[in-house]
Amino acid sequence: MQLQPSLPLLQPRSPLFTCKILINPSKKTIPRHPSPSTCPSPLLPRYPEVERSVLVPRELNYPAQLNPFQKLAAVALDKIETSVIMPLEKNHVLPKTVDPTVQISGNFAPVGECPVRQGLEVVGRIPACLHGVYVRNGANPMFAPSGGHHLFDGDGMIHAISLGPGNEASYSCRYTRTSRLVQEARLGRCMFPKPIGELHGHLGLARLGLFMARSGLGLVDGSHGTGVANAGLVYFNGRLLAMSEDDLPYHVNINGDADLETVGQFNFDDQIDCPLIAHPKLDPVTGDLHTLNYNVLKKPYLKYFKFDKFGRKSRDLHVNIEQATMVHDFAITGNFVIIPDHQMVFKLSEMIGGGSPVVYNKKKTSRFGVLRQNDAVGSGIQWIDVPNCFCFHLWNAWEEDNTETGDKTVVVIGRINTKDYHIRDELGSGSSERAIPRSKDPVRLLGHSRSMAEVFRHRKSRFTDRRNHEIHVYRFGGEPFFVPENKQRKGENDEDEGYIMGLVRDEEKETSEMVIVKAGNMKQVGAVRLPTRVPYGFHGTLVSQQDLRRQVM
Ligand SMILES: [Fe+2]
Repeated sequence: MQLQPSLPLLQPRSPLFTCKILINPSKKTIPRHPSPSTCPSPLLPRYPEVERSVLVPRELNYPAQLNPFQKLAAVALDKIETSVIMPLEKNHVLPKTVDPTVQISGNFAPVGECPVRQGLEVVGRIPACLHGVYVRNGANPMFAPSGGHHLFDGDGMIHAISLGPGNEASYSCRYTRTSRLVQEARLGRCMFPKPIGELHGHLGLARLGLFMARSGLGLVDGSHGTGVANAGLVYFNGRLLAMSEDDLPYHVNINGDADLETVGQFNFDDQIDCPLIAHPKLDPVTGDLHTLNYNVLKKPYLKYFKFDKFGRKSRDLHVNIEQATMVHDFAITGNFVIIPDHQMVFKLSEMIGGGSPVVYNKKKTSRFGVLRQNDAVGSGIQWIDVPNCFCFHLWNAWEEDNTETGDKTVVVIGRINTKDYHIRDELGSGSSERAIPRSKDPVRLLGHSRSMAEVFRHRKSRFTDRRNHEIHVYRFGGEPFFVPENKQRKGENDEDEGYIMGLVRDEEKETSEMVIVKAGNMKQVGAVRLPTRVPYGFHGTLVSQQDLRRQVM
């Protein structure tokens, strides 16, 4: 059911709850990458395997069964691309945000697929609770970009590290065979537009028009989605799902050798026909998978729904927002859903004037919506203004009980990049607004950051748990993943019992490894030496041995 366009009023008889939004800025101080003398440009990288991994576009290889008209039109469109669009693109000075020599430089440069490599060196020990396959998604363009390219545009590649008894470990990495990747591999070059690197301004419109013309002629098929499945990974109801927020998820099977095989797009047994955001939330207590869908073209701009542990979808709940808005992440607690509605909005008409379709709307007031999970129609959603706040990711959320009043506090932690911001921390009256000084401390995994201790003191093993970290100079990590040692324990004092795992790149030694840290004391207990370079990437998860046995083939 769609909500009325006006904002919902607070319900006088609703039990009170307060929402704290804790912002922990973490402007990392790590250098972009080593100096040019030690790290040349990505397309002439110091890593020799890259030369084999990024394919040089070749002559288009259209299917032989094209009819004469299609062949003629294909030649004409190719001519327009090579004689008009590409020369214009070459004359256009690319900003760093879409310059491939910046975006995929150093250890952001892509690698080739790696079949399973067994018998990896393990230093220390692999705790039993980590036995399974750790998988991490990332962007890894198959073809060298010919024009603008943003890191997020790269084809999805999953890196898999299996961990077993006796310190056994293996590694492999595979592209996720998306519809666009399969077609481009067959055609021999990029044919689908890159949403961030190419789709802005007049040249972006030209690229979009070219793609639509080729689609209309049957030279490419965009009807099965255009996403790259490079951002998120979740294991749900027997399936590992790879996701980007502009497409349906892709089901990827982990076989007996811990190699990866793309099964195909997954529409939850015909229950959905819309993209899901890349950060669905798995409730560890109920097994429900909560998710969002946003639409950049038409209302409803935002929908919330969930799947129960058997995969049965709930009804759509239309979240009332005024503009098409980028919502990359959200959070859940045991009883609530927290939805950001920030100032990065979609305005496709900006392209006509030469701009980007994704714009920062200064006039919009950033806010969070707090929705009870049992609110069937969403009429009780409460919005908390957080002016000038933009959180691309939320780190954690939980509920605290006020023993005196019986009210609940919903605590939300996010990372913010905006320079100045204010936090409103009272939901009920919305009357209290205060400025929070910007912390100068970087967030570190190893070290003595008090802010880190404060942030992750609470319920790290439940719901969202995400953190960026710096190991030390020239050793850089990505997103660590926390695994509780004993999932049955739920006491306050037990929540540190577990391990944090993540991929680390040593830029001086040019080595990649998976590091395991004991969460209680932040001491390293083990590391798996990886046989090839693993580029920096996005999000990962651990598929346990039990989950591996329950996979749907
Ligand atoms: Fe993300």
